[in-house]
Amino acid sequence: MSIIDRLDVQPAVPTLPASVYRDPALFERERHEIFARNWLLFGRSDQLPSPGDFLAATIIGFPVIVVRQPDGSLRGLHNVCRHRAAMLTQATAGSLPGGMIRCPYHSWTYGLDGCLNRAPGFGAAKGELEPAEWSLFPIAAEEWRGLVFIRIATTGESLVDWLGPIVPLAAHYPLEGQRFFMAKDREVAIDWKVYGENYLECYHCPNMHPGLCESLDISRYTIDPHPEHGLFHLYGPKRDGGMTDGLYFYRFPYLMLNLYQWGSSIATLEPLGAGRVRHINWYLFSDIGPERAEENRRSAEWSAQIVTEDLEMTAGVQRNLETGIYQRGILSPRQERAVQAFQDMVRAALPGLES
Ligand code: FES
Ligand SMILES: [Fe+2]
Repeated sequence: MSIIDRLDVQPAVPTLPASVYRDPALFERERHEIFARNWLLFGRSDQLPSPGDFLAATIIGFPVIVVRQPDGSLRGLHNVCRHRAAMLTQATAGSLPGGMIRCPYHSWTYGLDGCLNRAPGFGAAKGELEPAEWSLFPIAAEEWRGLVFIRIATTGESLVDWLGPIVPLAAHYPLEGQRFFMAKDREVAIDWKVYGENYLECYHCPNMHPGLCESLDISRYTIDPHPEHGLFHLYGPKRDGGMTDGLYFYRFPYLMLNLYQWGSSIATLEPLGAGRVRHINWYLFSDIGPERAEENRRSAEWSAQIVTEDLEMTAGVQRNLETGIYQRGILSPRQERAVQAFQDMVRAALPGLES
């Protein structure tokens, strides 16, 4: 018998070269040409319920702030004062006193919408300062079903258009009714693309995820790429006696939504540099009452264990991509079709990548 599975009717295709997973100059291109142009998961609506509430973080290297407006909408702003570039806040969340954003350096104040309100010591002399020209730099911020997203680029498709088919496919999953239970953040030496590729094949599942294989019928696990939407639709039917079935989405570049009737596991990667990410996972459940705490924790740990298995394996992959021994591998057209689609998305977003 051949060592090659003859069911593969298409020829195997080469992977991306190892160099694209470790190159700081390429990471700079990714920041601007991929991450800044896509919607990025930023927070949850319940973290900023009232006008003046804000969330702030540095995301893909940009310090940004999202502020709840008096009309209930969100406004996204760079956390950069227009005077001499101070951070407007060092806090990661809070409420803005007096409905103003006040720079702690020289007290320029801005409205919640980012318009300059007052610049002490300026303004009397004609032409000294025109307030309309000194608003905070905007970013895009929108919400979908209790999740807050930002986009550094101010122009582009709406969040709902970007989510595309996720919106109707997830319509029956009760996301709004689910409450935040716990988060797990892990900083790891893995390139965001290595982790994305791992998520997008279940070729490794029988070897690596005994817990997952106990719950899901892995032989019927499907991953359907929808390149026109930057989307992957994953489905794992429940085994008899298994804990759950799952509806999973991966939206390029790195949003992972794992939806269940009783809860959700929502994950994202925050790229920190070439070959470095923070893996952020939130666990939400329909019922977070104390009597459900142990069961919820067990569900979250079950899911986190699968991520741990993936992180440990892909950290080794990353180390080997950095050694210079391995240059390129090949992908199975049957088992790794979605990895190929993911790599094609990377190629499309970064013209000239392999030239
Ligand atoms: S830098 Fe913000 S007021 Fe001067
Ligand atoms: Fe995995």
